[in-house]
Order: sequence, then C-alpha cells, then structure tokens
Amino acid sequence: MILLSPAKINLFFRVLRKRSDGYHEIASLFQAIDFFDTIHFSFSHADSLTCTDPALPTGPENLVMKALHVFRSRYSLPSGVTIHLEKNIPSQAGLGGGSGNAATALWGLNELAGRPATPDELIEMGAMIGSDVPFFFSSGTAYCTGRGERLEPFSLPYPLSGWIAKPPFGLSTPLVYRETRPLELPAQDPLEGLSRYPYFYNDLEPAAFRLEPRLHAFRERLLGMGFDSATMTGSGTAFFCFGKSEKTEGIVPFRSIQRPPNGWYSESLSFIP
Ligand code: C5P
Repeated sequence: MILLSPAKINLFFRVLRKRSDGYHEIASLFQAIDFFDTIHFSFSHADSLTCTDPALPTGPENLVMKALHVFRSRYSLPSGVTIHLEKNIPSQAGLGGGSGNAATALWGLNELAGRPATPDELIEMGAMIGSDVPFFFSSGTAYCTGRGERLEPFSLPYPLSGWIAKPPFGLSTPLVYRETRPLELPAQDPLEGLSRYPYFYNDLEPAAFRLEPRLHAFRERLLGMGFDSATMTGSGTAFFCFGKSEKTEGIVPFRSIQRPPNGWYSESLSFIP
C-alpha cells in the first residue's frame, strides 16, 4: 500500500497563553496542502522503517515508528510491517511534515489491520504522538484549539493557491515556543480570524524573528518580489505567500486539498467545496 502524506499551513496562528503543563494554548486555522511525502507499507517478518533522507532518524524517535508503537499497543496486526518514507517536505519548516507522516502511518496501519480504529480513536492516538497530528484526520481544513489537538471543522469559501518559500535554515519548535511572549502579543480574539477570513497572521513570528534575524530579511525579500502577503507557517521557517510574483525560483506552488470522507489525501482531490 502506498499513501501520500500531506503538509499543512497555518492560515492564522494565535498563541493565547502558556499552560502549566509547559504547552501553549493556541487557536489556529490549519489547511492541508498538496505538498507530499510518500509512505510505502508492506507486511514483513519484523517492523522496520527506512527513509530517503539520511539526516532523519529511523529509530523509535521517528514519528512514524511512534505511530506504529501506539497502534500496536491497542490493535493487532497480522505480522511485522516494513515502512519506507520518501521525504520531500522539509523538516523544521512548520509544514507539519513529521506530524503528517504519523497521521498517514496511523491511517495506513488501520487499513492494514482491517479498520479496527474509529476516526475518534485515530485522533486520540494522533494526539499521543504530537499536537499537530490529529488535524490530518479532519476534512483538510480545521480550526484547532487546545495545544492544537482539538478540531472544529471549517470550510474555506473557495480553494486556495499560493506559494511556499523556505529559507535554507530551520528552527526548532520547542525553541520558538520558549521564546514566545504571549503577554506581548496583540490581544485579538482568534474567532475574529475565522469571521474575517481571509486573514493571515502568526503569533510565533516575533519569537522566530528574534531567534533567527535572517528570517525577517527573508520575508521582506518575498514581499519585495511582488507577493501580496508572506506569512510564516507554524513555528517556521517556511512562509506561504499569496499574489503574483515574477521571480519564483526556489519557491513552490501549492493548492489547498481536502481529505475525502472515509479516504485519504490524494493529488487529484485538490478541493471539495
Ligand atoms: O506536541 P509536540 O510534541 O509536537 O510539541 C513539541 C513541542 O512544542 C512541545 O514539547 C512544546 O515545547 C511545544 N509546544 C507548545 N505548545 C503547543 C504545541 C507545542 O509549547 N501548543
């Protein structure tokens, strides 16, 4: 079985406060996009993971292996599973590549096991692996709250298409959150972000720009190229841009995608209004 593992962008990202458990209370409009890794699954004598990116660990710390571990702790699979991850989405980009891999692995394993897990159980297992994993079990668009794991459906009024730009350096998610100062952020109601859609902003930008000053210059360069907007996604360092630009070298186009009911993401199902 071969499944595509999509990326996401955060159309707006509000950080409300730091919680006593170390996480931050957030409210964000997440959107799946047609930027994919590919995951190959096959039955074999033992569980194993291989990856095209030699920089990524393939041991128990890999989110795909975590998904396999969480799934096996609840449900039975007829044999070992060999997983091969073809990596295309950059790491430390805020594009949710690793989280999408974990969600795709849970989806695929559930298919291989004969669908013992309900959609809510997939979301629950996803939340055990990472805050952004449950989102991928939404329709492809969701208003996410809590630490990001609570989903409310949202429908975009029209399909989105734009550009993804990623500088050659990344940022660590825990570091960006640690540098965030929620009390210094504009006290805007995140629900207003939904009512004022399209409305793009990211409360993690000030922290990311403090940690990596080249990021501010990178955004200015994108705006100088003619884009109408350039907003960081998640904890960075990738930006999503809208509008027309003449020079688009090194910048990849994206479209919003939707997950078909009871199915998984694919390249052809770009948008169901
Ligand atoms: O949930 P996940 O493991 O992806 O989170 C990685 C790290 O990002 C957490 O350990 C925490 O430091 C930070 N984080 C946070 N608030 C969130 C999500 C993540 O502070 N809502």
